Parts: sequence; C-alpha cells; structure tokens
Amino acid sequence: MKLIKSIEEMQKLADLWRRDGKEIAFVPTMGYLHEGHLALMRTAKSEGDVLVVSIFVNPIQFGPKEDYARYPRDLERDLRLAESVEVDVVFVPEVKDMYPEGFQTTVDVAELSKPLCGKSRPGHFRGVATVVTKLFNIVKPHVAVFGEKDFQQLAVIKRMVKDLNMDLRIIGHPIVREPDGLAMSSRNVYLSKEERYVALRLSQSLAIAKNLVKQSILDGAEILKAVTSHLCQDNALRLDYAELRDPDTLDEVSVISKPTLLAIAAFVGNTRLIDNCILNPAEAYTA
Ligand code: PAF
Repeated sequence: MKLIKSIEEMQKLADLWRRDGKEIAFVPTMGYLHEGHLALMRTAKSEGDVLVVSIFVNPIQFGPKEDYARYPRDLERDLRLAESVEVDVVFVPEVKDMYPEGFQTTVDVAELSKPLCGKSRPGHFRGVATVVTKLFNIVKPHVAVFGEKDFQQLAVIKRMVKDLNMDLRIIGHPIVREPDGLAMSSRNVYLSKEERYVALRLSQSLAIAKNLVKQSILDGAEILKAVTSHLCQDNALRLDYAELRDPDTLDEVSVISKPTLLAIAAFVGNTRLIDNCILNPAEAYTA
C-alpha cells in the first residue's frame, strides 16, 4: 500500500493506471476509519482494479462553531486499517495544497443543499461538493462509493455528477450499524457512556416508524409525532430535525405513498448525530 501526499503524484499515478486500462475505485473519507468505512472500501474494491482512499478533514465543510479543530485524527491507525482491506493508495493531501492562497472556486448544488442538514449547516454541502469535485479531478476514479448514512450528501453528489457530466459511477452503500443499532460514525467517539445510550434513540425511532408503516399507518404527521416523542422523551437529546422527504428530490412528504426518506439529526450533549431509513408502504401488512 502506498501513501501519497502530493496532488501531482496522485494525478500522475491515476493517468498511468488509466493508460494501462485499470478501473480506479475511490472512497473519499475524513479519516478516523471505522468498520463502516471498511465496508465501503470492500465494495469499492470489488468494483475496480485499483482502490484509492483519501483521508482529508475538509475545513470548508465545517461551520465556524463546528468541530473542525477537534475532529478525531489518527493517521497511523487509519493506515493499518486501510492496509487490512488491501487499499492500493491512501491519498492524504494537505490543506495548504488543496486550498492555496487565492482559492475561490466552489461547487453549489443549489436546491438539494437547502433542506435538512443544509438548513442547520449553511455552506456545508458547498464545502462537500467542492472538495469531492477536487478529489475526483485528482484521483480520476471510474467509480466512487459513499455511505447512505449521509443520505443528503449522497443525493447532492449524485446530482452534481449528473449536472456537471462527470464521467464516473456513484455507488451508495447501506448504513453500517453497531450491534445495538447505533449508526457507525467517526463522531461516536465523542459520546460518553450515558450519551451513547441516549444516542440509541435515533435508530430506535427509525424502527418505531418502520413498525407504524407495517401497521399501515402512512400519515406523515402521525409517524413524526411518534418519532419525536421517542427522541425527545427528556432533554438529554436536542432534536435538530426529523423529516419525511422524497429520496430523490428531497421534497417534503406528508403521506407515505411510495418509498420515503425519514431523516433525523439530533444533538446528544455537544455531538451532532444523523441517521435515516427508507419507509416503504409496500411493507405494510395486508389483512
Ligand atoms: O462523508 C465524508 O466523510 C465527507 O463529507 C467527504 C465525502 C469525505 C468529503 O469531505
């Protein structure tokens, strides 16, 4: 496994691979890898001939009051984990090279970036779309894999790739969960033992919603009432949003008449967590 820090070196290697007819698979990450990332890497590995993983904590996708400075970082550990799934190249660019003085070009996926996390994290998806575009131009992948936990991010990236005629395939990977249901996230490390217990309310409330749909309760307001009353049973959790949206357009949904995204974001202590599922009316029991 090779560690590359230089943008030019990464581009030259990508050119060489492409000339040799190799399919480049890519998993962009912000590091502090966990089993969820490794699952994306295994999928990516099966989709290409060579696998590149980037590790870059992207400053422009964090708001001024967010956790950029304290975001967990451990390159040594990340390299060991990447090696364990046979990554070919770990690309670790530096902030000064990604955003040199005078940098001023950004990518804005206008509408899909507005609701949900875009509302509470203004500029976040501009930062994501911009860095992902840059990484695609550097790694030159044929296929890239993203986790469905960041459902809106995946929707934004798919739209961007389509709108800007980027010549690669985007694959979404199902959410990887801890045995107790907590969606895997690098930010879970922030949680105390008590907070981690409270955090389980996110996946529990998704299960409550799925059960309601199974019982043919398809009214959005009724589902959201049950979800929020489980989440907000006390003030150990502060809800940012719990919303029903069309999975493609992210338009609001009031009745579950087709597969619908239930997306949740909440603060447990100072940690912002997200989770989601698709509610499918076809799963309602028929008498
Ligand atoms: O999902 C992430 O880890 C990041 O948002 C990404 C896609 C690597 C861009 O910085």
